[in-house]
Amino acid sequence: MTTILDGKKTADALMTALTETVAEMKARGVTPGLAVILVGEDPASAIYVRNKHRRADKIGIRSFTIAMPATVSEADLLAKIAELNDDPDVDGILVQLPLPAQISEAAVLNAIAPEKDVDGFHPVNVGRLWTNEPGVVASTPFGIMQLLKAYQIPVAGKHAVIVGRSNIVGRPLAALLLNASATVTMTHSQTADLAAHTRQADLLFVATGRPEMITGDMVQDGAVVVDVGMDRDAAGKLVGDVNFAEVAPHASAITPVPGGVGPMTIAALMMQTVELAKRRLNGSAK
Ligand SMILES: NC(=O)c1ccc[n+]([C@@H]2O[C@H](COP(=O)([O-])OP(=O)(O)OC[C@H]3O[C@@H](n4cnc5c(N)ncnc54)[C@H](OP(=O)(O)O)[C@@H]3O)[C@@H](O)[C@H]2O)c1
Repeated sequence: MTTILDGKKTADALMTALTETVAEMKARGVTPGLAVILVGEDPASAIYVRNKHRRADKIGIRSFTIAMPATVSEADLLAKIAELNDDPDVDGILVQLPLPAQISEAAVLNAIAPEKDVDGFHPVNVGRLWTNEPGVVASTPFGIMQLLKAYQIPVAGKHAVIVGRSNIVGRPLAALLLNASATVTMTHSQTADLAAHTRQADLLFVATGRPEMITGDMVQDGAVVVDVGMDRDAAGKLVGDVNFAEVAPHASAITPVPGGVGPMTIAALMMQTVELAKRRLNGSAK
């Protein structure tokens, strides 16, 4: 029997608990605050941002968007980040990617104060993650670890194979799995004989943006399969990077698309915003 790793249900349960935490924090005078900077009018980014605000509103987090035109200068964007860094009511700052070409993504991510970097992309937080120190972690890998935890899937000693090495998914996920004592293999577009690696996975994580590229013959029986992909197939249907129909019969557990990793990513963002705000309770923030 294959277990479906239900990200929506798991995220909802985590958010119910978080709503109570936020209510307690508010009673003590601290309302967690999340600032989102949205540059330009990319429709997908606008939807992602709207979904984040909806979740935040439901939980009681104060969240707001600073919308800037696609023509904004890097200096103006950096000035806005500096303002938010100094705003005591803002606990988390997130810049929705991608950014227009005239703006350096690295300059922007480096400008966010590490203690407000709720996406965990600042080099200080990346360094903390790789040295296994507490810090903020990129939302998607953090959400994936929460999902594994919710389903009590053992990680220590398991062979985890990750397909995709992006800064927002593959790399931070590798660090989290290593910190959780998995044996980690990273693969990418230059990997020779990808299937030989994926077939060795006890835990297989796929984040490539290539619709349904992981087929049934690439997965060993009993593997746990986590599909990060959010792709469109030739007919325009939302699919993952894993061919669900072929792979599910081999897997002991698998995430669906949609309803798997996606809701966990937003839940992770909310959880970490609240964690950052908690430091205000004992006056240790900023
Ligand atoms: N559900 C969510 O919350 C969520 C969050 C983030 C991303 N996503 C989705 O996850 C997917 C990946 O996103 P991303 O931002 O990580 O993508 P990305 O930055 O484009 O990185 C893709 C990675 O996959 C590797 N790759 C591409 N084709 C491959 C192939 N044929 N074989 C092996 N590796 C291959 C690339 O290798 P190279 O490095 O060699 O180019 C790269 O490392 C997308 O579908 C995205 O929409 C979902």
